[in-house]
Amino acid sequence: MAGSTVVGTTDQSTASDGQVPRRGGIHLVKHPLVEHHVTRMRRATTRPSEFRDLVRRLAALMAYEATQDLPTKPYRVETPLTHADGVQVKGRIGLVPILRAGLGMVDPVLDLLPMAEVWHLGLYRDEDTAQPVRYYDKLPPKRPVDVALILDPMLATGGSATAALMTLREWGVPQVKVLSLIAAREGIDAVSSQFPEAQIYICQIDPELNASKFIVPGLGDAGDRIFNTLEPHD
Ligand code: PRP
Repeated sequence: MAGSTVVGTTDQSTASDGQVPRRGGIHLVKHPLVEHHVTRMRRATTRPSEFRDLVRRLAALMAYEATQDLPTKPYRVETPLTHADGVQVKGRIGLVPILRAGLGMVDPVLDLLPMAEVWHLGLYRDEDTAQPVRYYDKLPPKRPVDVALILDPMLATGGSATAALMTLREWGVPQVKVLSLIAAREGIDAVSSQFPEAQIYICQIDPELNASKFIVPGLGDAGDRIFNTLEPHD
């Protein structure tokens, strides 16, 4: 198990049915493999094919950690010999990738949660204002999922995560988890102060944003690196 450190808990509530207590706040996922893979992601010479693999590995490690409090219900199965009393995950789970970069995290998380629904949100950050611009949202008006996992490799100013959280709040999702591979300190603080009940899982927190609101030291633009759309160098 990866193991996470709660570095900023702003809300604590107990889940029903004797499940693991649900804690809002910032969960830093710490593990040698996480640190190893994040380091390779940061490297400017890492090519898009390897970058995509690293995003997948890290997304799986994070999802394992972020789902440790999912509620379960008893489930008896017949084995070849007799029966066994087990469990199955209870409730509807929604994966909410933020386009584009969040798409790189969908498949590995879906591998762990094959029963999950996937609801896409299209947001891009305006290059001049750094404000999120919504361009795609087809959430159905009713029947929100019970738990939503917002997937986006980067959290910089926090504007995109905040916009996604507001959308899911309007939809009526009771529990929301944000899974980001790296974040800037000021962005993550902004999100958790506005949504203290949200559980935010991060592999590494970087100290600052530059004048263009890029995470420093960061890893550049995850979307461009996943989809190989970087401007070519001369
Ligand atoms: C990046 C990233 C986040 C957002 C983070 O997406 O994937 O969605 O910026 O920045 P913020 O916390 O300041 O909002 P981008 O806008 O580059 O779009 P893309 O995924 O299409 O590349």
